[in-house]
Amino acid sequence: MTAPAFAHVPHPSPMADDVRAAAIADPVFGRVFTDHMVSIRYSEDRGWHDAQVMPRGPLSLDPATAVLHYAQEIFEGLKAYRLDDGSMALFRVEANAARFNESARRMAMAELPEQLFIEAVKQIVAVDAHWFPPVEGGALYLRPFMYASEVFLGVKPASEYHFLVIASPVGNYFKSGAPAVSLWVSDDYTRAAPGGTGAAKCGGNYAASLIAQSQAIAKGHDQVVFLDAAERRWIEELGGMNMFFVFDDGSIITPPLTGSILPGITRDALMTLARDAGLTVREEPYAIDQWQADAESGRLTESFACGTAAVVTPVGKVTRGDTSFTIGAGGPGQVTGMLKDRLVDIQRGRAADPYGWVTRL
Ligand code: PLP
Ligand code: COI
Repeated sequence: MTAPAFAHVPHPSPMADDVRAAAIADPVFGRVFTDHMVSIRYSEDRGWHDAQVMPRGPLSLDPATAVLHYAQEIFEGLKAYRLDDGSMALFRVEANAARFNESARRMAMAELPEQLFIEAVKQIVAVDAHWFPPVEGGALYLRPFMYASEVFLGVKPASEYHFLVIASPVGNYFKSGAPAVSLWVSDDYTRAAPGGTGAAKCGGNYAASLIAQSQAIAKGHDQVVFLDAAERRWIEELGGMNMFFVFDDGSIITPPLTGSILPGITRDALMTLARDAGLTVREEPYAIDQWQADAESGRLTESFACGTAAVVTPVGKVTRGDTSFTIGAGGPGQVTGMLKDRLVDIQRGRAADPYGWVTRL
C-alpha cells in the first residue's frame, strides 16, 4: 500500500505568542496542547487515507460509534526534545510504532504502517516546533492514538478506524517536587490478568487502574503498585510506569514481560544502559514480601520507576495496608541517578548514541 501524502490545513487563529509563552512557562502534564493535530482515516475498502495536519479541535462522534461502547482504543506516548544546539529529536520512535501495532493486533484493530506512524509524529513536531516548553526536563509529549470509528453496535472488530496525534508541552510528570515518590500497594485491585490486555497500550487498562490510583492518592501517595492477578504476590508495575530494584551487590531486577506488563521502551533502554555500565540485570519475578524484607535488611538499596512521562523516578517509601517501609535513605540513590543521567544525556543529544535511539529532525 502506498502511504497517503499529508494535506496541510493551517490553524486559522493559532495561539498568540504571549499567551503561548505563558501556557508553556510551567505546564502541568497533559493540560496544555499545541495548535495542530494529525488525523488519518482507515476503512477496510480504502485502507489508510485522508492524512491531514489540521487545527486541533473537537471530534464529532455519532453516539453509536463503536469505541464509545466496546472501548476499542489504543495509544502511544513518546517525547520530542529540543537539543542544546536548538535542533529537535525523537527518542526511539520506531519502538513506539512497533508497539502501537502490537497493541493493534491484540485489540483486533487495523495496523498502521510504521513509516506512516513515524511520519505523522514528525509532521506534528514540525508544524508546532515553537511549542517546546523552556523548562528543565521540558519536552513535547506526543500522544498518537487510534479508536474504532465505525458506527455499529454489533460486537465485532470495527471496519473503520481513526488515528490521531496530538502534542502537549510538558515539564516534570510529578509536580510535588519531592526527591522521591511514595507508592501504595493495591491489595483490592489488579490491573491485568494472564491472557488479558496488560501488554497492550489500550485505554481499557488505564480505566481499570483508576480506582486503585485514586485510592493511592486519597491515602497520600503518588502512584499505585499492582501485583499479579493470580497469586497477588509478584510486583508487576505501576499505573503508568515500569519498576526496577537495585541491590547492594550491584545487580538489578525488573519484573519479566509475562504478558500482563507493558513492555516499556524506557525499561528496555535502561536495561541496556545498566548492562553497558557493568551491572547485572535480571528480568525476574520479585515478590512484594521480599521487597520489604530486602529494604529492611539493606540488601535492596534503591528502587525506581520509569516511563516516557516520568523518565526515571526514585521511590522513597512503600505502603501496603498498615505497613510502610523506606527504600535506602528515602531519596534518590546513586545507581538510579547514574542511569537517569545516561538516559537523559542521550535523549538530549549531550552524549553519543551508540544504540541508534535518537532520530534527529
Ligand atoms: N507501564 C505502563 C502501564 C505505562 O503506561 C507506561 C507508559 O507508557 C510504561 C509502563 C512505561 O512505558 P514507556 O517507557 O514505553 O513509556
Ligand atoms: C507515558 O509515560 O507515556 C504514559 O503513557 C504514562 C501515562 C501515565 C502518562
